[in-house]
Amino acid sequence: MKHSFKDIPEQYQIKSLFHQTTYLVNGELRSWKGEKAEVYSTISSTPKYKQTLLGTIPQLGEKEAMEALNSATQAYDSGKGLWPTMKVGDRIACMETFVEQMKTKREEVVKLLMWEIGKNLPDSQKEFDRTVDYIYDTIEAYKQIDRDSAKFEKHSGVYAHIRRGPLGVVLCLGPYNYPLNETFTLLIPALIMGNPVIFKPAKLGVLLISPLLEAFQSSFPEGVVNIVYGRGRVLATPIMQSGKIDVLALIGNSKSANALQAQHPKGNRLRMVLGLEAKNPAIVLPDADLDSTVEECIAGTLSFNGQRCTALKVLYVHESVIEEFNRRFAYKVDELKFGNPWEQDVELTPLPEVDKPQYINELIDDALSKGAKVMNKRGGEIMDNYIFPAVLYPVTKDMRVFKEEQFGPIVPIVSFADIEEPLDDMAESNYGQQVSLFGKNIHTLSPLIDTLVNLVCRVNLNSSCQRGPDVYPFTGRKDSAYGTLSVHDALRSFSIRTFVASKDNEYNNKILEDLLDKKTSNFISTDYIL
Ligand code: G3H
Repeated sequence: MKHSFKDIPEQYQIKSLFHQTTYLVNGELRSWKGEKAEVYSTISSTPKYKQTLLGTIPQLGEKEAMEALNSATQAYDSGKGLWPTMKVGDRIACMETFVEQMKTKREEVVKLLMWEIGKNLPDSQKEFDRTVDYIYDTIEAYKQIDRDSAKFEKHSGVYAHIRRGPLGVVLCLGPYNYPLNETFTLLIPALIMGNPVIFKPAKLGVLLISPLLEAFQSSFPEGVVNIVYGRGRVLATPIMQSGKIDVLALIGNSKSANALQAQHPKGNRLRMVLGLEAKNPAIVLPDADLDSTVEECIAGTLSFNGQRCTALKVLYVHESVIEEFNRRFAYKVDELKFGNPWEQDVELTPLPEVDKPQYINELIDDALSKGAKVMNKRGGEIMDNYIFPAVLYPVTKDMRVFKEEQFGPIVPIVSFADIEEPLDDMAESNYGQQVSLFGKNIHTLSPLIDTLVNLVCRVNLNSSCQRGPDVYPFTGRKDSAYGTLSVHDALRSFSIRTFVASKDNEYNNKILEDLLDKKTSNFISTDYIL
């Protein structure tokens, strides 16, 4: 076994351990003296392989989970709380304070992203910057929603002042592959719409939240943001069982989402915003431009080692071009550089989950035993914290790699003669997020596009699958998602339309005019937020 070791540049070395000794509840950073969990990186700091200890985090118990729940419940105070009734402009001001402070923590967060989840430097920087942009875009989108609703409508003699109001207390759980970005794409819209939040960082990528705790504490009123550390089972289960959660916001796997949803005693009250598994296919047609198709399929299958919900997880290639595609694709995969996240031009990086190399190895063995071959020379080379991506062909439906969401560096290729084959597989699949379609003949593409848009929620023409740009809807069918996220849609997902209706008569009109004139209501307002 081996791993890639080169001296770690000074600025990325771990010189002292990071001990997170507080958690955020009721506006206080409460100190924790109880059980702690050690946080390790699968990246070695020494030539002889050894995981690197990064620090410790609290392992809170049920009592602290309930404290966080009570804190959020009080902040909402059945809709009477300061936060849910606050003027939109004032909530926006809190968010602006937060994002300004957040920006000062870029270096610390980026360094921890690299160590905790192994994301390479440019992608870690991108994750941070994209999140900051997301916050600014959310502020703008909320202003626009507010402007659009700063008016009265009148139908059948009834005036209505319609706005989007908060839903209540939100439990927010994000994934380890985008522990900052995807968590914040839930947290930020939930907060800005007036919902207090309980947030538990992902299983990996936990310490990187620490530099932001003070910013959360000082930017929002007490109880609005609660951050707890520990095991999901211990913390999230009693929180859900209380029945006091109004929205479950989770990006992760459907097993956890279903288990948590089932704990809620009044299922009908629970709103859900979920981003779950996917097995996005690429379909390569006979007339596809092979150079760009191979490039896009490399990025699609192996960016961040395939640990993306949007990753291409199976490639369907037409039998007439399969040989050439496999040759070029396998060659390109072997050219990808493996190394630590801060190394120049590194594309493949250590896997943060300790058992992942073994799991991927099992998928390879299973496929080989059922007739597949590894098409690239380096495929399956196993290291202490990595397994080099194996390009597997021919992959058939009885193989585990065909059925399971691998979420790691392995690429199954299936050849097809008739386009109905991938279409039937997609129709049978439990997932329905996106597809990549490679080809150029409009007479072939058009009917395919017309069908594919009904099987998934985004058809990427001659490009790999991805979530961004964040203004576009991010969602999926079947087990892949519940609700839609985009900057604008997320604001809708975390709110509900609520309004004041008033019959058009002198008595009511006088009241409304007075109220608008003296600006006594935070809800009824025709102010235009610049
Ligand atoms: O893990 C799934 C992410 O939503 C993927 O986002 O397509 O920007 O990598 P991305």
